[in-house]
Amino acid sequence: MKIVLFIIIFVLLILGIYFGYYLINPSQKGKTILDNLNIPHPTVIAHRGASTIAPESTRPAYIKAVQLGADYIEADIHRTSDGKIVVIHDSTLKRTSDIENIYPDRVNKHISNFTYEELLKLDFGSWFNKKYPKKADESFIGLDIIRLEELIEIVEQSKKSTGIVLDIKDIRYYPNIEDDIIKILKKKGWYKDYEDNIDSSDHTSKVLIFSFNLNTLKNFKDLAPNIPRVLLLSNNMMDWQKWDRWLEAADGNVNGLGIKGFISWPWHVAAAHKRDLFVYPYVINEIWQLQILAQIETSGYITNRPHRVVEFLEKLPTLIELEIE
Ligand code: G3P
Repeated sequence: MKIVLFIIIFVLLILGIYFGYYLINPSQKGKTILDNLNIPHPTVIAHRGASTIAPESTRPAYIKAVQLGADYIEADIHRTSDGKIVVIHDSTLKRTSDIENIYPDRVNKHISNFTYEELLKLDFGSWFNKKYPKKADESFIGLDIIRLEELIEIVEQSKKSTGIVLDIKDIRYYPNIEDDIIKILKKKGWYKDYEDNIDSSDHTSKVLIFSFNLNTLKNFKDLAPNIPRVLLLSNNMMDWQKWDRWLEAADGNVNGLGIKGFISWPWHVAAAHKRDLFVYPYVINEIWQLQILAQIETSGYITNRPHRVVEFLEKLPTLIELEIE
């Protein structure tokens, strides 16, 4: 019995020393990696907009996130059956719209089956008022889905230097969506090819491409190599052994990794930095998480509460002005 206790204490001690070493000596290379890409460090990314204040992925959520000082607003990207690029997280419309009233027999249909005109008949705000009565606002009733062009215009109208993160979803439903996205970015003046002689003040790093799908990221690398790319890893894509394999797959294809918060072990971050990959954990909403991750030196935070992160980082002291709790 004594031997077992001794072994347990010994193992815990070794783990404590290992963890302690990385906490005291975190890899600080993340800042250099981001500086080279002209991305603010640490980066505050508003996940689906300020999505605890207003209905996710809608105009008010993005306007609020821009006002609050997020460096980037994050938008999940899908394509309608008539080829419009729209912003919504889920593959179906039932969670964040009133589809049950408008198209009751199509509730479980994938969003790619709907035309843009059909989507415009749906209300993307009222669900939020029902779910969060304390945060409800009349102006959320009847909110429209937004197109990628409108997302860009929200930033342009704000006159802020906020960037956009495009998280490319469900790629198997959307052949060549990469081309469509780059065309829109070019048309809006948010992407220029190398040969256009971009300079560091240009919009290049105002767009980041995220995806769980490495193939689509490789397609973006071929099409638009100077837009930074982030490979997202979910819980089930990760275990203790898989980290090295993901780093190998990412190396040369993407610039960073987006990982579930609790797998942001400091030695994972350090190993990524060694390969010139930055690391963004998601979804980070609590102060205690920020405290740990700041110590580990992750390169930024993907958050539903950009106001909290901005305040934590002391990036913008105007929260009282904006009446945000
Ligand atoms: O964009 C990063 C993170 O948001 C991925 O998770 O579920 O929002 O797509 P999810």
